[in-house]
Amino acid sequence: DDAKKNAHGESKGGETHQTAQGNVPVLTTQQGVPVAEDQNSLKAGPRGPTLLEDFQLREKIFHFDHERIPERVVHARGYGAHGFFESYGNVADVTRADVLQRKGEKTPVFVRFSTVAGNKGSADLARDVRGFAVKFYTREGNWDLVGNNIPVFFIQDAMKFPDMVHAFKDEPDSGFPQAATAHDNAWDFISLTPEAMHMVMWVMSNRAIPRSFRFMEGFGVHTFRFVNAQGKSTFVKFHWKPKQGLQSVVWNEAVKINGADPDFHRRDLWNAIEAGDLPEWELGVQLFDEEFAKKFEFDVLDATKLIPEEQVPVKLIGRMVLDRRVDNFFAETEQVAFCTQNVVPGIGFSNDPLLQGRNFSYLDTQLKRLGGPNFTHIPINAPKCPVMNFQQDGHMAMRNPKGRANYEPNSWGAEGGPRESPEKGFKSVSEPVEGAKVRVRSETFSDHYSQARQFYISQTPIEQTHIANALVFELSKVQTVAIRARIVSHLLNIDAALADAVAEGLRLKEMPKPAPAAKPTRRDLKPSDKLSIIKN
Ligand code: HEM
Repeated sequence: DDAKKNAHGESKGGETHQTAQGNVPVLTTQQGVPVAEDQNSLKAGPRGPTLLEDFQLREKIFHFDHERIPERVVHARGYGAHGFFESYGNVADVTRADVLQRKGEKTPVFVRFSTVAGNKGSADLARDVRGFAVKFYTREGNWDLVGNNIPVFFIQDAMKFPDMVHAFKDEPDSGFPQAATAHDNAWDFISLTPEAMHMVMWVMSNRAIPRSFRFMEGFGVHTFRFVNAQGKSTFVKFHWKPKQGLQSVVWNEAVKINGADPDFHRRDLWNAIEAGDLPEWELGVQLFDEEFAKKFEFDVLDATKLIPEEQVPVKLIGRMVLDRRVDNFFAETEQVAFCTQNVVPGIGFSNDPLLQGRNFSYLDTQLKRLGGPNFTHIPINAPKCPVMNFQQDGHMAMRNPKGRANYEPNSWGAEGGPRESPEKGFKSVSEPVEGAKVRVRSETFSDHYSQARQFYISQTPIEQTHIANALVFELSKVQTVAIRARIVSHLLNIDAALADAVAEGLRLKEMPKPAPAAKPTRRDLKPSDKLSIIKN
């Protein structure tokens, strides 16, 4: 059949247009001109020089020269797959989000998993957080749930994100390490940022070396909002629970895998889908109201804290299956653009100062990464519902307004293009706001150690040993002894035995004093105080 098509795949009514030997399509230039010879440049005589006239050569080299686009400033290394989300239809009372209304209805999704700190070519088994970003192509627009495999974050305010990322990525003078937390700058920043200690406990745990993407949980991290048809808002935190269970490798294995097969995680996802062993997650929500938020002992706007499932159980609201590999890695996985501000009617934001910064950051970076304002026209980013507005032009515009009107209001009735809809359209939650403009951190964000302790004591003894070993390994790569000691001074606020083990492992000459803490750690937290740790 291919033989009956021209270079654009259009049928020529039985005529074999532009086919080479047999059924093979003819090689063409970008202009569609058939190519007779693709092995040699056009020269004046067999030994040259090469002629400027050779448009074939110039076009080919020009296109090659421009293949690279900037890699993502974080989460540069990732891997994606297509699938579907199937709603359980059991949250219509709390959200009007169309995608969640009808039991059994399937919505297409695209997922990209990633590491955070490493460059695009770095190894999959680095000790790192994993990104877990899901784009739902809903009937009311694209909803992106841009999460991680760890339920909390290092910092509380977007203002610190560039500093944090600079400190974690390769050092500016040496250009290394490319994908590791094991260096002075990373630990210097952490040691001066006690709010990071909760997440550091998770990153030093086995969670940060998952066996594959298929065996990870996912978390939206921030508090978001659901909004129902009556405009009532409920706070929500999102969770992905892997049906495969939760599995990690140990550090020894991670190091070997990185050497033997740095593509281990992407290969695993590709092969699993090819084999029909389709990975599946359930989407869960923790729902709570203002009353709960007021009485909860931490601030629900603080992304360094989670809400224990014991206090607010996770309600499962749907499942996601990844059933199709990408056709083209660059077109899909590289060009996909997730953004926390891509929400749909029925979903909204909280005032979490990290989330608010993210809402600005993603669109901004994608303008540069994807070369202009029209990246929503690229198939992987294009909604699968009608898109109609008066935005126009710009580089690579594929979707300009149709007809005479490119503004609104206009007098052209049905021919005047789309109109706003107070009933169907997105509305922000009407939340009263008042306060002086201040550049401060809320005091309600100031207990940095209690949940770090809660996580640590929730671990089994062998998992605790892995955390201690990871800390010793990572900190032993830190050359500045004062930074090592500062980390131990934070550990003393989390668990004395852990601090001892790390100090001993590092051969610290003298035990530092516990770091000054704005609030004392809750020592009454017991292993029975569950965290969002799934049962396999
Ligand atoms: C990617 C910024 C916090 C999850 C990115 C990118 C930027 C960014 C600029 C690259 C996007 C692109 O080039 O398309 C920020 C800022 C943050 C922040 C400013 C805090 C203020 C977080 C948090 C999470 C997260 C808390 C998890 C809950 C992700 C993921 C990606 C990503 C999963 C990769 C998306 C993909 O696969 O394409 N972030 N981020 N980020 N971020 Fe964040």
